[in-house]
Amino acid sequence: MAQIYSRIMATGSALPERVLTNADLEKFVDTSDEWIHSRTGIRQRHVVVEGETTGDLATLAAQRALDAAGVKAADLDLIILGTTTPDIIFPSTACLVQHRLGANGCAAFDVNAACSGFVYALGIADKFIRSGQSKKVLVIGAETLTRMVDWTERETCVLFGDGAGAVVLEASDEPGIYATCLHADGGHKELLYNPVGVSVGFKDEPNHGVRIRMSGREVFKVAVKTLDSLVEETLNAAGMDASQLDWLIPHQANLRIIEATAKRLNMPMEQVIVTVDKHANTSSGSVPLALDFAVRSGKVKRGQNLLLEAFGGGFTWASALLRY
Ligand code: UT7
Repeated sequence: MAQIYSRIMATGSALPERVLTNADLEKFVDTSDEWIHSRTGIRQRHVVVEGETTGDLATLAAQRALDAAGVKAADLDLIILGTTTPDIIFPSTACLVQHRLGANGCAAFDVNAACSGFVYALGIADKFIRSGQSKKVLVIGAETLTRMVDWTERETCVLFGDGAGAVVLEASDEPGIYATCLHADGGHKELLYNPVGVSVGFKDEPNHGVRIRMSGREVFKVAVKTLDSLVEETLNAAGMDASQLDWLIPHQANLRIIEATAKRLNMPMEQVIVTVDKHANTSSGSVPLALDFAVRSGKVKRGQNLLLEAFGGGFTWASALLRY
């Protein structure tokens, strides 16, 4: 029997309209555009307004991907949505989006792998397609991380933004996704986390204690080291070497981390998709937003090889090597 691959038919994305620049942040927190840009590469981020949700952004990104693919929502077999910031505790945001798209009846679930959520979701979707279980799958990464930001804490509030991206995958005889690698190490929980919730309980603090806690410097070091070995592992799994890659589409947390990974792969920055300057860190939204930006701007073309990677709380880390 011929091998089945999952192939990206089309991409879509959505950002909140409201933009918060580094200069805007300077007005209410002790920071500067110079500090933020030199340490992270960020110039601005998109931020949701009151009432705007992860599901809103996810639905818009998904509809744009479906339109670009020429696929009707009713033809989907599966929806997987990576998020750490679901609209409500349940039903899952994937179910909320499914209903709004009119795809009722197909399987739909969320994946919480922090910033690696979209790449995890892509890896799972690929297995459903390869096994013959699903033919058309919608994969989304969507977040409203600024809902968990303490706007008085300069160490974290300057880093995050909101947004969503989506891809429509189809079963194909041609590659397709060559390899995906998914990993986690829960031993690093305390370096990047949000320690409140339904079962543990909420705190008697502003926003019920819902707030990102991060040891930035430590996360930075582990991220660089882990991504180094992840890209090696992914190339091996796909049976390729770095010279066969056309584009690196990395998680957009920090330009210095991105540059370190590119250097490891011997790829010039001209072959790296960078959106961190405009979007900041949108967690699960970051990789599919960067991918959609790269496709719609004409940078990424059919037949090119893309390496997607992400690293986030957990720690989790994940990658996908695919032919677009
Ligand atoms: O997406 C999931 C993964 N997350 C990440 O990948 C984030 C990884 N970490 C990072 O990107 C970087 O560690 C940060 C951007 C968070 C911080 O950069 P850094 O170069 O590691 O800075 P630092 O934390 O070592 O802080 C340096 C100084 C400190 O002052 P002192 O102690 O040297 O006097 C901070 O208090 O910068 C100060 N600082 C700030 N100053 C102005 C921290 N935040 C700010 C700020 N504005 N926003």
